[in-house]
Amino acid sequence: MPDAAFAAWRARVEVALDLALPDPATSPERLYAAMRHGVLNGGKRMRPLLVFATGTAFDADEAALDDAAVAVELIHCYSLVHDDLPAMDDDVLRRGQPTVHVAFDEATAILAGDALQALAFQALADAPLAADRRVGMLAELARAAGVAGMCGGQALDIDATGKWGQSGLSQEKGHSDPTFLLADLERLHALKTGALLRASVRLGVIAAGADAASRDALDRYADALGLAFQIRDDLLDVEGDAATLGKTAGKDAAQDKATFPALLGIDASRARLASLADTMQQALSTLDVDTTALAALARLVVERDR
Ligand code: IPE
Ligand code: IPE
Ligand code: MG
Ligand code: MG
Ligand code: MG
Repeated sequence: MPDAAFAAWRARVEVALDLALPDPATSPERLYAAMRHGVLNGGKRMRPLLVFATGTAFDADEAALDDAAVAVELIHCYSLVHDDLPAMDDDVLRRGQPTVHVAFDEATAILAGDALQALAFQALADAPLAADRRVGMLAELARAAGVAGMCGGQALDIDATGKWGQSGLSQEKGHSDPTFLLADLERLHALKTGALLRASVRLGVIAAGADAASRDALDRYADALGLAFQIRDDLLDVEGDAATLGKTAGKDAAQDKATFPALLGIDASRARLASLADTMQQALSTLDVDTTALAALARLVVERDR
């Protein structure tokens, strides 16, 4: 069942994203074209899948989840457009295509990211849901996108870049015990990547009006999933190839990024992934709804090769 459901949800969100994005024939055409380039380019749509899997597990209508799925994917795409800028990770390849600043120019890429972020909140504000649910979703997404979430995590990532390798960061922090660095790294990953994945689950929860006990279990699931997602991303940067990944491999080591393989090595990173898979399964086992799709997403995150 999950494969067919995932294909249907992906198709659904592609249509909804296309509709949400401005008509490329309208002025300013270049900005509109850059926004479309940053979004309609073959992403895995993991965050929309989480919205749909969570919401439908608690009997929400798919139609009631479309705007949340669109909103979180737009924030994610904006984060990628900015993450790839020369001032940040300086990447030229994303989803198998030139990054937005390469295909267009830096100013346009900055504006496209800004406009995608605004469009995300507009989509949620216009969702055909009760006002209290819409406000709850807006607050959730704003927290996850901002300084307590993705942007804060990206700032920690930039701070650590170039100082992480060997003793650099531990000397700066005045200690050499790797457990301190591990806690820093987990926080960095929880913010830069985990926050939006957790928000995806929570938007599904809010749209469906799930009960508080279920919300706690889903938070535990989502937190493990967020960390697992970034550990897998870090591992793929070491072990993957550009043709499969759709992005340049080997960049984290070259830029001295704060990653799990850099701190713990490959084997311990894989072991951590396996233990997060158990945590996710355990959290789902406490729910009394059909968690087939959520369990399949947990496997996808841990096993994905792109
Ligand atoms: C990449 O995210 C950036 C991270 C948060 C690790 P994805 O791996 O979900 O990228 P797309 O959306 O499929 O391109
Ligand atoms: C990006 O992490 C997280 C974001 C908030 C965009 P990475 O920098 O590792 O993502 P990739 O590897 O470029 O996709
Ligand atoms: Mg980055
Ligand atoms: Mg990057
Ligand atoms: Mg990466």
